[in-house]
Amino acid sequence: MIDFTGSLPTLIQVSYLVAAGLFIFGLKRLGSVATAKSGNLLAATGMLLAVVATLVDRSVISYGMIAASMATGAVIGAVVARTVKMTAMPQMVAIFNGLGGGASALVASAEFLRLSTGGPAASLDVRISIILGVLIGAVTLTGSIVAYLKLEERINTRPITYPLQNALNLVLFLAIVALSLYLIGVEPMLAVFLAVLAGSLLLGVLLVIPIGGADMPVVISLLNSYSGLAAAAAGFVLGNAVLIIAGALVGASGIILTRIMSKAMNRSLTNIIFGAFGTLQEGAAAGAGGQNDKVVREVTPEEAAMILGYARSVIVVPGYGLAVAQAQHVVRELADLLEKRGADVKYAIHPVAGRMPGHMNVLLAEADVPYDRLYDLDQINSEFERADVAIVVGANDVTNPAARNSPDSPLYGMPILNVDKARSVLFLKRSMNPGFAGIDNDLFYLEKTMMLFGDAKQSLTKLVHEVESV
Ligand code: TAP
Repeated sequence: MIDFTGSLPTLIQVSYLVAAGLFIFGLKRLGSVATAKSGNLLAATGMLLAVVATLVDRSVISYGMIAASMATGAVIGAVVARTVKMTAMPQMVAIFNGLGGGASALVASAEFLRLSTGGPAASLDVRISIILGVLIGAVTLTGSIVAYLKLEERINTRPITYPLQNALNLVLFLAIVALSLYLIGVEPMLAVFLAVLAGSLLLGVLLVIPIGGADMPVVISLLNSYSGLAAAAAGFVLGNAVLIIAGALVGASGIILTRIMSKAMNRSLTNIIFGAFGTLQEGAAAGAGGQNDKVVREVTPEEAAMILGYARSVIVVPGYGLAVAQAQHVVRELADLLEKRGADVKYAIHPVAGRMPGHMNVLLAEADVPYDRLYDLDQINSEFERADVAIVVGANDVTNPAARNSPDSPLYGMPILNVDKARSVLFLKRSMNPGFAGIDNDLFYLEKTMMLFGDAKQSLTKLVHEVESV
């Protein structure tokens, strides 16, 4: 029998390299909806390989403990993945990020304790990595918990601000840095370490509370990036190459996603983090409830169906309300029906429609809407002027012309879908309430706009029924 034990470390490193390659190719394929499934599968295969390679590593101490933890995690993960609502996906991502950060902070803390209580003296790079793992991991953990609570509306979703907030946060951060330098350069004292840990946990809370609920998806993406950096730091602590690479990939992709989202909202990252966007502004939600004297034109499903039934070109604009109503299947049903009647139907996807990147693409894919019917902002905006009807299904902020026309509006500068240029607009929403940014939408009051009030799924079901009899 051949003895492979001597070559085991090499085998493990080669497996890690292959796993890292699979992560990178998987990530690349995740860039397009058409290849995303296979990308996910590639990355998952890489992860399986990395886990198996780590398990055969001889530095593993107790397989029993690992098996019990993995079984517990798998059961919780499977239950959560099956039961989570599509609208609660951002919250789930927030919790995942937080737990990732927390796990890295725990690994780093365990290494600190091991090395500072009689273990071999740690080299400088390991000491730096331990502190970075604790700092970034702890900030990610508590920051993500606050983001989760804001998204679940368990705490005030508005920015929580107080005088000298940024200055006090800076003082706390500098104190953590000073104590960290002491731990790295002078003495690994337990009390100082605990102070760094507690300070970092507090910093995570203080950094996220001044950010409004509307900006939480961007914060979550940023925290996702942090969780990757914390994992990479843990990789350096453990000398584990695949953890370093995977952490760096998460860190880099999280920051790229954060940039894409900020750009789609025409906001700088500094403005999102320190701008307290979403603080109730005087008159900002004046339209909420429609208490101003502007006039809206309410229609019945029959009236709306008359217009839709004869439309030649229709653009569907989905938004967060589509996810809330779970109306993706019935919107497709309506589109199929209109196409059968000879209309050309396209879907206009705004990059921040919904509450997370790709939210609308995932929902519409679930209803088997062909990918080639989905158009992004740049592709579709010039087509609105040729559209007979734009049907807005539970979208609001991403259609608000104030972003183009009103320099005073907090939305000003955000690229929007030019729904107001269509010949007529059919709005499906439940009330006159504003969208997530809390800002009234001028589009409601245009003469060409028809408001069909009600839950989007119910309104669409009625529309299908009425169009069939036109
Ligand atoms: P919103 O502006 O939030 O508007 C959603 C609309 O859906 C609301 O006006 C609501 O009106 C309606 N609605 C809710 N439930 C409904 C239901 N069951 N049936 C019918 N209508 C329903 O959404 P949007 O246009 O998708 O814009 C996204 C917002 O989130 C933007 O402000 C964006 O900046 C922010 N944001 C998104 C992201 C990402 S990555 N997607 C990231 C950061 C921030 P009623 O209550 O009257 O029904």
